[in-house]
Amino acid sequence: MKRVLIVAALALAATTVQAQKFDDLATTPPMGWNSWNKFGCNVDEKLIRETADAMVSSGMKDAGYEYVNIDDCWHGERDARGFIQPDPERFPSGMKALADYIHSLGLKLGIYSDAGWKTCGGRPGSRGREYQDAASYAEWGIDYLKYDWCNTEGLAARGAYLTMRDALWAAGRPIVFSICEWGDSEPWEWGADIGHLWRTTGDIYPCWDCEYDHGSWSSWGVLRILDMQDGLRQHAGPGHWNDPDMMEVGNGMSVSEDRAHFSLWAMLAAPLIAGNDLRSMSEATREILTNKDVVAIDQDPLGIQGFKYKTDGDIEIWFKPLVHENWAMLVLNRGNEEKRVEFDWKTESVVDELSDRDACFDQGRVFRILDLWAKTDLGTTRQPLVAAVPSHDVLMVRLERLAGEGGESEAAH
Ligand code: GLA
Repeated sequence: MKRVLIVAALALAATTVQAQKFDDLATTPPMGWNSWNKFGCNVDEKLIRETADAMVSSGMKDAGYEYVNIDDCWHGERDARGFIQPDPERFPSGMKALADYIHSLGLKLGIYSDAGWKTCGGRPGSRGREYQDAASYAEWGIDYLKYDWCNTEGLAARGAYLTMRDALWAAGRPIVFSICEWGDSEPWEWGADIGHLWRTTGDIYPCWDCEYDHGSWSSWGVLRILDMQDGLRQHAGPGHWNDPDMMEVGNGMSVSEDRAHFSLWAMLAAPLIAGNDLRSMSEATREILTNKDVVAIDQDPLGIQGFKYKTDGDIEIWFKPLVHENWAMLVLNRGNEEKRVEFDWKTESVVDELSDRDACFDQGRVFRILDLWAKTDLGTTRQPLVAAVPSHDVLMVRLERLAGEGGESEAAH
């Protein structure tokens, strides 16, 4: 009875106080792990606890990963009063105990629901139960909600997500709100006031450049998803990110493909949500996920999504503006052969109208070039950059503005 009254009071409060999203969350792209890509519906509290332990022991927590997110299929039934319960066999200790454990490690717990009648996995959805579900999540100590879009026939996306945003606000616990409607209703146009991130595409698949046909829908390889991000960067920024889906690093692609995938997500200022088994990952996978220099590109406080500067056959060159007039640069080799690349800074002019920044190297501005994977110093932009980029791989560098060289302002480094 008490809980029913609390829910009623929260619903009433929501109609009298102007609801909004929790504003000071996800000021840089969220980082964490999600169960779906590797485990699908096979989730239980043992997996979640062990994954949280592995997030700490592997160095991922230290590298910035924070959220441990349970995707679909954690649900049991609703009780007689309509409150959702976790599956009693898979989560016998309950969600509150799990959240307490995750919090004791200095991590945060995420959960999943759906705006429709049922989730994609056929579990109870939140349609008509939004305030009740949000109150349960807050009571359990949940920190992140991924909200899916299956079984929503007849619903309008913006309104459905607005309802859950308001319900989370009314519940009173700051919860990152992850809009997962696959880009169908262009959430980048309306999502910034509602959620902290929005999926821009259908589901990812662990392949370099394939379409995996499920019959009525497809999931997509890394390059397919990358190409679908065109034209969206102006919508992203601190607190509201484009989400090209959770990562497939460690889920079957080659090491170079995984490295390229991770680097590209960092250039896109994408949420870095690992999707592999953290308990048994290889050292190569661990090294990719915990490369702090690459993570720092993703987490740069300006929160400016990178952009494709140039394409030459299989080679793409990407740039991302960083704080203190620095830049990240990535050379992607999409093709099946190693490619030799020469980039003569003096003849290039990198201009980003969106952020009103430029790196006109010919005007005497000099940058030091740091290779973020080889962890070597590649000299400065006084000499052309010459590199061999292996097939399905990247060269990723950080350009550090040298103080006192050219231009009027000096870099802080
Ligand atoms: C949809 C989402 C996925 C995952 C599944 C769960 O396909 O896009 O990320 O959450 O549902 O059923």
